[in-house]
Amino acid sequence: MKILMVCLGNICRSPIAQGIMQKKIEDLGLTWTVDSAGTSGWHQGEKPDARAIAICKSKNVEIAHQKSRKLVPNDLDDFDIILAMDKNNYDEIIKLCKNTTQRSKVKLILDFANCHTNDIVPDPYYDGKFQEVFELLDKAIFNIVQRQLGVTLSYN
Ligand code: 4NP
Repeated sequence: MKILMVCLGNICRSPIAQGIMQKKIEDLGLTWTVDSAGTSGWHQGEKPDARAIAICKSKNVEIAHQKSRKLVPNDLDDFDIILAMDKNNYDEIIKLCKNTTQRSKVKLILDFANCHTNDIVPDPYYDGKFQEVFELLDKAIFNIVQRQLGVTLSYN
């Protein structure tokens, strides 16, 4: 299973999502892979926002090694599931799709996770609500892993 997390800048939300998923994959010994990308290339080559690195570090999730990159057309073939953080991200990804197979891989992360507390992951870049975003993504990714594995896990 190859999962791609996508946001606008690939320095806040999708790196956090990648880090959380990576840790769950490792903890469970799964052979899945996870990566992240931005619909913009504004921060190409940069590491995640310092506030994203800090909230992750406080939860034992390491993301400081990640580097921002722009979403490329090949990603739509290379990955099995492409998870957008918000509706703008979703629309931008869909615009790159060339066929229904590619389109069928693209989901809003909170829909896919059956997380109905929010419909989108709010962008913390301006308001600084990184704790809220971390918690939302942690719950969503827990739900995704549980559903994809078809098992019941304990959330902690
Ligand atoms: P992200 O947040 O999409 O969660 O990485 C943002 C990062 C940078 C900008 C906007 C959102 N920016 O305008 O540079």
